[in-house]
Amino acid sequence: MGRTEKKLMGKNAPIIIDILKKAYCDEMRIFHYFWYVGINMEGIGLVTYAAALKTQATGELGHAELLADRISELGDIAPSDPAEWKQLSTIGPLDPSKHLTLRSALERAVEFEGKAVENYNGLAKKALEVGDYVTYNLATTILADEVKDEQHTEDVLKSLEVK
Ligand SMILES: [Fe+2]
Ligand SMILES: [Fe+2]
Repeated sequence: MGRTEKKLMGKNAPIIIDILKKAYCDEMRIFHYFWYVGINMEGIGLVTYAAALKTQATGELGHAELLADRISELGDIAPSDPAEWKQLSTIGPLDPSKHLTLRSALERAVEFEGKAVENYNGLAKKALEVGDYVTYNLATTILADEVKDEQHTEDVLKSLEVK
């Protein structure tokens, strides 16, 4: 952590680092979910939607990178062990091989994208409360992406309804 930021953040840094680490774990698991489903998707989704899922996967990986950078700036390091990702994660069990049809993949995605919206909202609030404007800015940037992700996933799911 830079000297000035260390002084400004004081005892609040560990609180923010904890939330950033949890978010990092969620993003890495969500990245893997989209990436895996994008490769192994079954049925019509493979032709129509697999590429979109891979693009979404790289978006989530980008979030993970932003979080890892901020964790480093605050003098810590992102969790490296996938066992830790599962332990610190806030989105529950997530085995992509159980969601290989388009509908199932998107239904699970709506759940964790919604959770991501909640989490980044919480992070933004907390960061503002402790005067960590850099993390606040990061949280609102990612939050805007997650709001879009959730909305888009809901829209695609609705379009699957038989009319
Ligand atoms: Fe994300
Ligand atoms: Fe997302």
